[in-house]
Amino acid sequence: MTPIKVVVTGAAGQIGYQILFRLAQGEVFGPNQPIILQLLELEQAMGALQGVVMELQDCAFPLLQGVVYTSDLKTAFDGANYAFLVGSVPRKAGMERSDLLAINASIFIDQGRALNQYASDDVRTLVVGNPCNTNCMIASATASDIPKEQFFAMTMLDEKRARSQLAERLNVHHRDIECIIYGNHSSTLFPDYWHSTYKGKLVVDLVNDPAWLEGAFIENVQQRGAKIIQARGASSAGSAANAALDTMRLIVNGSDTPFSVAIHANGQYGATKGLFFSMPCLSKNGILTPIDHIVHNAMARKRIEITIAELESERNIVISRGFMNA
Ligand code: NAD
Ligand code: LMR
Repeated sequence: MTPIKVVVTGAAGQIGYQILFRLAQGEVFGPNQPIILQLLELEQAMGALQGVVMELQDCAFPLLQGVVYTSDLKTAFDGANYAFLVGSVPRKAGMERSDLLAINASIFIDQGRALNQYASDDVRTLVVGNPCNTNCMIASATASDIPKEQFFAMTMLDEKRARSQLAERLNVHHRDIECIIYGNHSSTLFPDYWHSTYKGKLVVDLVNDPAWLEGAFIENVQQRGAKIIQARGASSAGSAANAALDTMRLIVNGSDTPFSVAIHANGQYGATKGLFFSMPCLSKNGILTPIDHIVHNAMARKRIEITIAELESERNIVISRGFMNA
């Protein structure tokens, strides 16, 4: 089988370190698919990255056909079939993810350009670096020859957080809970508990505590990333890597059940065309189909409007600072 080329940016960082070994083991692309890892880092992190590459070699993974590691965009993105855009600065305690826009936005211009110039035409790109929805919009806008449908921003971690909060409350297993995230990967995200189910039954009925669902539950999911930073002194890494791998696995292998991912919006749920907006999606042959017919009540609509307004304001900042054309 021809090896696939998979780019991971920020490969020497926390999330990169959690992703690489699992990718090389075949978790995303399957047990028969050889893989070449193409790792991008800043020049100053090359020493650390070299150590990670040594460790990859020492695993002698049967599927790992080669490792390229570089600070050069052309070398990293050359012929890439899949890209995990992780490399960027994480927030510190007290910051919102959108505070990172000014610091991180230009990274996604450069990498969008590199994807456009050097990657395979069918490259699938998952943006993890924050603020991931807006960075994804920037990368996709810069990579103007690549269809927008091939770009995704990660909200799977928020979905898993929501499912596990609900499971804990109901004292059931999280695998049987479904809960979709709408909007931005930020403190305005909306975990749609109104349509959330446990084994097909509505969670609102099972929990039977509207104040908790509309209050503490939503806030816990929205603030989970900040809580982890407070506790660990560093942002989530193992859980973030896990969610990134799961998202790409669903994109590659398909999914008959809806999952949360931010995709190029085209007016669904009122999200302005061009924003990267999280909504329920199905996946088949690397193509995602948004489920666009869920009917939301007034409370849910209000939440969705708030998160859309935030994405719009991030887009306005990006345009006013010249990171993207209007
Ligand atoms: P980290 O600081 O541990 O690692 C980031 C790495 O990226 C560093 O090694 C750095 O040298 C590298 N880097 C910086 N600029 C780069 C560039 N231009 N090209 C290549 N590499 C570059 O951070 P981390 O904990 O791995 O987090 C990475 C990003 O992921 C952050 O923006 C963080 O906020 C985000 N994140 C997103 C989610 C999500 O759910 N979407 C979850 C967790 C973290
Ligand atoms: C998370 O949700 O854990 C990440 O986006 C990191 C952060 O800044 O909260």
